Amino acid sequence: MTTVATIIPHSRPAIDQEDLRATAEVLCSGQISQGPWVKRFEGGMAGFFSLQGGVAVSSGTAALELALRALRIGAGDEVIMPSYVCPAPWLATQRVGAEARLVDIDLNTFNIDPLAACQAVTNKTRAIIVPHLFGLPADLTALERIGIPLIEDCAQTLGVSEQGRPVGTVGRLTVCSFYATKLLCAGEGGMVLSNEGALLERVRLLREYDGAATLDPSSFNLKLTDLHAALGLSQLARLAAFHERRRFLAAAYRTTLSSKAAVCPSVPPGRTHGYYRFVIRLPHVQTDPEGLMSLISRLEQQGIHCRKPVFRPLHRYLDQSGFPNSDEADRTALSIPLYPDLTDDEVRQIQQSLVQVLS
Ligand SMILES: Cc1ncc(COP(=O)(O)O)c(C=O)c1O
Repeated sequence: MTTVATIIPHSRPAIDQEDLRATAEVLCSGQISQGPWVKRFEGGMAGFFSLQGGVAVSSGTAALELALRALRIGAGDEVIMPSYVCPAPWLATQRVGAEARLVDIDLNTFNIDPLAACQAVTNKTRAIIVPHLFGLPADLTALERIGIPLIEDCAQTLGVSEQGRPVGTVGRLTVCSFYATKLLCAGEGGMVLSNEGALLERVRLLREYDGAATLDPSSFNLKLTDLHAALGLSQLARLAAFHERRRFLAAAYRTTLSSKAAVCPSVPPGRTHGYYRFVIRLPHVQTDPEGLMSLISRLEQQGIHCRKPVFRPLHRYLDQSGFPNSDEADRTALSIPLYPDLTDDEVRQIQQSLVQVLS
């Protein structure tokens, strides 16, 4: 077995001199906790979405929890979400005491299946959490028709649109994550955004307990620091350039994979893709007893760190069945390194390895 000395990581943040300057300015200011930079970052993100406002919090998971609390969702309520997603939407729902109703995905897009979501509605349904996975908007038009409040989870998708509407502008609330590997990286961090001032105000009150008029047991310390906010704001200025590079890389991978047994990301009519991840499906690995994991380890031996894009669908943690598309995605989906900082040499190495491993 040959192993290579350096591995091309699956993700790598794009940090430049301007990011260093912005964070150094905060460090030198003597004010590094939540302060003016957080306010500026909130304004910058609200402007980016053209929404009334945003409230910065400590993570995307915290943003989801506070979005649910802002809608006063709690015990006895149900929240619909796809099974094929990281645990954050389920965890947030548990924390507010509501019940998560898992539904399957559309295998073509990896996003929540609107028909399955519609069929899961009961008289207790209070919200649908809509993660836009891997950079592709979910079918917001069909989801909106269900008539249940949507919480758009933009942790993986910013700056793209569905039927001409930018993601993050359709739901009653939108949440973002600024974790180290996300489209905008602040190390950690999240935000809740909305056009409804009353919802934003409630999130703001729940984010911190200092100075509150009453003791609310669901308020906590979920603040973001100015240090994180300065980094996020500095990255926001480069988001368009990040997207351009991501689209260029995605086009290069499509060319490489055109003659291989791989299903490249689909982009349904009326939607644009931001390629937070380049996730391919390899239907043939289902017949291999070692499957996807053996392919991932062969790529690792060649110095390429690829990953399953979702570690484990939620229904498998919870021992539920009836999610054939999520199961198939779990068996066959592979995420290839794609991020703005990937060098041309690294891209060539990845392309060569894919050709070799998939031949
Ligand atoms: C779709 C989605 N929602 C929410 C989150 C949670 O974000 P955070 O890691 O900032 O808590 C993530 C993070 O991986 C995510 O991918």
